[in-house]
Amino acid sequence: MEDAARSLLEFRHISKSFPGVKALEDVSIDLRAGEVHAIVGENGAGKSTLMKILSGAYQADEGQLMLEGTPVQKNNPKMSEQLGIAMIYQELNVTSELSVANNVFLGHEPQRGIFINKKEMERRTAELLDSIGVNVPPYTLMKNLSIAQQQMIEIAKALSKNAKIIVFDEPTSSLTETEVKELFRIISDLKKKNVGMFYISHRLDEIFEIGDRVTIMRDGKKISTSLIADITMEKIVEGIAGRRIENIYPRTPCAKGDVFFEIKNLSGDRFEDVSLNVRSGEIVGIAGLVGSGRSEVVKAAFGVDPCRSGEVFVKGEKAPGNNPQKLSRMGIAFLPEDRKREGLALALSIRENSVISALRRLNPLGVVRRRQEHVTVRKYVQDLEISTPTIEKLTKFLSGGTQQKVVIAKWLITQAHTFIFDEPTRGIDIGSKSSIYGLMDELVAQGAAIIMISSELPEVLGMSDRVYVMAQGRIAGELDRKDATQQSVIQLAFSQKGE
Ligand SMILES: Nc1ncnc2c1ncn2[C@@H]1O[C@H](COP(=O)(O)OP(=O)(O)OP(=O)(O)O)[C@@H](O)[C@H]1O
Ligand SMILES: [Mg+2]
Repeated sequence: MEDAARSLLEFRHISKSFPGVKALEDVSIDLRAGEVHAIVGENGAGKSTLMKILSGAYQADEGQLMLEGTPVQKNNPKMSEQLGIAMIYQELNVTSELSVANNVFLGHEPQRGIFINKKEMERRTAELLDSIGVNVPPYTLMKNLSIAQQQMIEIAKALSKNAKIIVFDEPTSSLTETEVKELFRIISDLKKKNVGMFYISHRLDEIFEIGDRVTIMRDGKKISTSLIADITMEKIVEGIAGRRIENIYPRTPCAKGDVFFEIKNLSGDRFEDVSLNVRSGEIVGIAGLVGSGRSEVVKAAFGVDPCRSGEVFVKGEKAPGNNPQKLSRMGIAFLPEDRKREGLALALSIRENSVISALRRLNPLGVVRRRQEHVTVRKYVQDLEISTPTIEKLTKFLSGGTQQKVVIAKWLITQAHTFIFDEPTRGIDIGSKSSIYGLMDELVAQGAAIIMISSELPEVLGMSDRVYVMAQGRIAGELDRKDATQQSVIQLAFSQKGE
C-alpha cells in the first residue's frame, strides 16, 4: 500500500442500535494521517453516534475499530484518550473554575515530588498555546473565556496528550467569522503535524474550504466517500437530502397588512436606539456580524432581558417590559438562539416539550385532550421531518439538530401571529432547512409576521422582504428585498458609528 493512503484509523462494518432506531448500519470509513475527513448528513443520520463509538462513550453492537492496523478491543473514554483520540464539541461552554493550565493538564499534571508543579504546568501551557498561535494567559479561568477560546484550549489539551486523531463535531456554530478563520488556520497547522481529523458540519461551504475527503451519511448508512476535488456542492446536497432540492428559498408573493410588532427607540447595555417593525404577511431579516447586538435587541424586546429605555408595541398595544409570559399571551413566539439552555426541557419527551407553550390553547378548560394533542404534534413532527420512532422519545436522546426542530415545533404549535426566530436553521441539515423555509413562507402567506435573525447571508437574502442590518449595537441601515444584496448588506454590517 502507498504510504500516503495508509489508514490511521478504520471503522469496519460498524452497527449500533438504540430502542426503535438503527443509528448505524454497516458503516465503514477510514481516516488518513494529515487529512481532514468531513462527515455530512441529515439530522439523526448517525454522525455523532459514530464519533461517540470512537471516543468510547458508546460501544458498537457489531463491527471493529482499527487503529493503525490494530483492532481496538472494548473501547472506553479513558482508553480512547490514551490511544491519542480527542473530541472537540460545539457545545463546550465550560463553566469550570479551573484555570486554563489546570484544564490542559488535567489528570496528567507535571509533578514535583507529591505536589503539582504549577510553574512548570503554566510554562508548558503557554508553550502549547503559543504553538497554535493562541494568546490567552495560562492562569485565566476557563469560565471567563469565549466559546471559541475554550475550543482552542481543548485543542491545546489534545496536543498536550499528543493526540493523533481529533474529532470536530459542529465546532463553528457559535463562532464569529474571525474565530472560524482562526480555527481553520489551526486545523491547517495540525494537518502539517500529520494529525488526522474528522470534521462534522452542516455548513457545506466549510467542507469545501478545509476538507480533503467527504463522507455522506443518511439513515445510519454510509452513502459515499469522495475526494473534495471530485465532488460538487449539488451532489453533496443531493446525497444528504436523498433528493434534488430545486428551490431552497420558496417565497409566495403575498399582501402586507398591519404592523404586528414594533420596537421603538430601544436601548440596552449592548444596543442603542433601535427601532424596527414587521407587518402581517412579511418576513423581516436582521443581518449583521455575530456580536453586533441582534440577539440582545430581540431578547430585550421579548422581555427576557431588561432594557434601559424604549417601547415595544404588539398590534398597536404597548407591551410591558420584562414580561415574556405576557408577550407570548399577546401572540408573540420567540425562538432563542441558545436552544439547549433556553428552549428545551431535556428530561421531557418530544410531545411534552412541543405542547408546553400551547397547553392553554389545546386545553382551554384545563382538560387534557390527549387525542388532539397527539394529532397536532404528529403533524409538526412530519412537517419538520423530525426523525424519531415515537413522539414519546425523551429529547435528551435526540440528535443535536433534531432537538432544534422540536423547539421550532413548540413555537409553531402556539399559533402566534408574530414569530421571532434567532438563527432558526443553525445545526439543521440542508433538506430540513428548505422545509423550515417552506413553513415560514406558509405562515406569512396565512397572515403571520416573522422576524428572522441570521448569520447566513444567503438565507437572509433568500427569505426576507426587508432587511435591517445591525452594526455595533445600532441599526446601520434598512434595505428592501430588491436592494438587499450580499454586497450592500456586508457594507452596512461593517460600517462604523456615524458613517
Ligand atoms: N443515547 C441514545 N438513546 C436513544 N437514541 C439515541 C441515543 N443517541 C443517539 N440516538 C439516536 O440515534 C440517531 C442518530 O443520532 P446522532 O446524534 O448520531 O445524529 P447526527 O447525525 O449527529 O445528527 P445531527 O446532525 O442532528 O447532530 C438518532 O435517531 C438519535 O435519536
Ligand atoms: Mg450530531
